[in-house]
Amino acid sequence: MTIQWYPGHMAKAKRQMIEKIKQIDVVIELVDSRIPSSSRNPLVEEISSGKPRLLLMNKIDMADRQATKQWKEDFEDQGLTVHLVNSQTGQGVATIPDAVHKLTAARRKKLEKRGFRPHADRALILGIPNVGKSTLINRLAGKKIAKIGDRPGVTKAQQWIKVGSTMELLDTPGILWPKFEDPRVGLCLAATGAIKEELLDFQEIALFLLKTMLTHYREPLAERYTLEDLPELAGTEEDQDVLIRLFDDIGRKRGCLMSGGYIDYDRVSEIIVRDYRSQKLGPLTLEWP
Ligand code: G4P
Repeated sequence: MTIQWYPGHMAKAKRQMIEKIKQIDVVIELVDSRIPSSSRNPLVEEISSGKPRLLLMNKIDMADRQATKQWKEDFEDQGLTVHLVNSQTGQGVATIPDAVHKLTAARRKKLEKRGFRPHADRALILGIPNVGKSTLINRLAGKKIAKIGDRPGVTKAQQWIKVGSTMELLDTPGILWPKFEDPRVGLCLAATGAIKEELLDFQEIALFLLKTMLTHYREPLAERYTLEDLPELAGTEEDQDVLIRLFDDIGRKRGCLMSGGYIDYDRVSEIIVRDYRSQKLGPLTLEWP
C-alpha cells in the first residue's frame, strides 16, 4: 500500500526515525536495484546520525546485472558497504548478519576496552515504500511478521527478532518517503510501481520506458513486440514523432485499436508498463550511476 506524503507526514516520519535509530547500532538501507538512485531517500544520511550503514540492493532478479555491478562499484566508491539481495528467494540474505557484525567491530572493541560485554548487533531496515522491507524482514525472521501500513503515524509495539547468533533486528521497518521533486525520479518510481497507480499517467511512463529501451535495451524491446528495424533516437525534437510511431507499431501488433482504426494509446501504454513490471521485457534497470 502506498500513500501520498505530505509535509506533516514527512516531518513525523523523520522524527520517529531519529528516535528509533537511537536504539540501534547499524542502519540497513534498502533500495530497488532497478532504480538505485531514485529509490533512495536523500535524508538517509542525516537520519542515520553517523551510525554505520549497510546498503542492500534488493530485487537483483529484476535488474540488469551489468548495471547492478556498476551501481555497486559506484556506491562502494562513495564509501558504502553494499550487498546484493533477492529478498523474495533469499539470495544473498544469509550474509547480512556477518556484514552487520563487521560494521559494529569498532563499537565492540571500544566497549570491550572499557570492560563491557557488547550486546548483539541491533539493526533496523529502512527504505521507501515497496522496496521490499517487509519481505526482507520476513526472510531474516524466518516467519511472517505482520505488516504495518506505509503510514508514518501507524505504530505497533516493536519487537526485536533474533537473527543468527550476533544480530537483533527491529520487526518494524523505518518507512521513508520517496523523492518527489525531479520528474525523472517520479517516472522511475511510477514505472516500477513504487507510487500509486491513480497518481500516474500511463502514457508518460510508457514513453519513458520506450525511450530507455530504445537507448539501452533494444533487443528485448524488438523481441517482445516483434519489431523489425527499430528506430534510433537522435536527441532532437523529432524523437517525439519517432516514439509515437513506435507506439503505433506496438499498438497495431497488440490489436489496441479503437473504432475507426485509431490506436488506443491508453491500452498500449498500460500493456508496456505492465510488461515491464511483470518482467516480460526482461530484467531492466532504468538508471545508471
Ligand atoms: P515494503 O515493505 O518495502 O513496502 O515492500 P514489500 O516487502 O511489501 O515488497 C513489495 C513487493 O516487492 C512485493 O510484491 C514483494 O514480494 C516484492 N519483492 C520484495 N523483494 C523482492 C525481490 O528481491 N525480488 C522480487 N522479484 N520481488 C521482491 P507484491 O507483488 O507487492 O506482493 P506479493 O504479491 O509478493 O505479496
